[in-house]
Amino acid sequence: MRPLQICPSILSADFAALGEDVRAVMAAGGDIVHVDIMDGHFVPNISFGPDVMKSIRKVTDKVFDVHLMISPVDPYIEAFARGGADVITVHAEAGPHLHRSLQAIRALGKRAGVSLNPATPESVLEYVMDDVDLILVMTVNPGFGGQKFIPSGLEKLRRIRQMIGDRPIDLEVDGGVTADNAGAIAAAGANWLVAGSAVFKGGPSAYASNIEAIRRAALAARGELV
Ligand code: DX5
Ligand code: ZN
Repeated sequence: MRPLQICPSILSADFAALGEDVRAVMAAGGDIVHVDIMDGHFVPNISFGPDVMKSIRKVTDKVFDVHLMISPVDPYIEAFARGGADVITVHAEAGPHLHRSLQAIRALGKRAGVSLNPATPESVLEYVMDDVDLILVMTVNPGFGGQKFIPSGLEKLRRIRQMIGDRPIDLEVDGGVTADNAGAIAAAGANWLVAGSAVFKGGPSAYASNIEAIRRAALAARGELV
């Protein structure tokens, strides 16, 4: 099993104090910073761009996991790579040339991820399995934090975990993740758990216990709770 990572989605952070809030959530036990980039075109919401990401890159040494919900995506990959992304994930639905986008990410020395919307079948991954380092299964329709987990994602995770076999690919889940469903998600094979509202609820004093609750539920399902 690949290591479990809890990835706070900073879409739920306080944008008026973004750097401070990112620092606080990572100090509270977040493993990986999940950065949601939205364009108001591929998804019905706008977040922020590479310059904002670059400025928050300075507050932590943790891995930056950049989830690009933008179309077209290819013209922006380099800006996010230069802005300090470690993993860059594109949506399979965002353009006709998924393989080219993945190649472009790896050519910049970054780990390449592909994300699937809830209605997209895992078969789109079949011919890119050797071109990805991470697969992100959306369990809400992308665009907003705080939505309800779509349960059919669990079956999709199980199927993709089978497809991955022993390849060095991380399986990430994003959308509606809470301490209540983290066990089922981890049992289905996901090892990177993104959570926005479930991590940021209650403000900074609650971040550590929120993260710990998700982690413990997932570790228990993996048989790793000590
Ligand atoms: C949704 C984003 C998610 C979102 C998760 O489009 O990709 O990362 O912020 O938020 P929660 O955990 O609240 O569903
Ligand atoms: Zn995301």
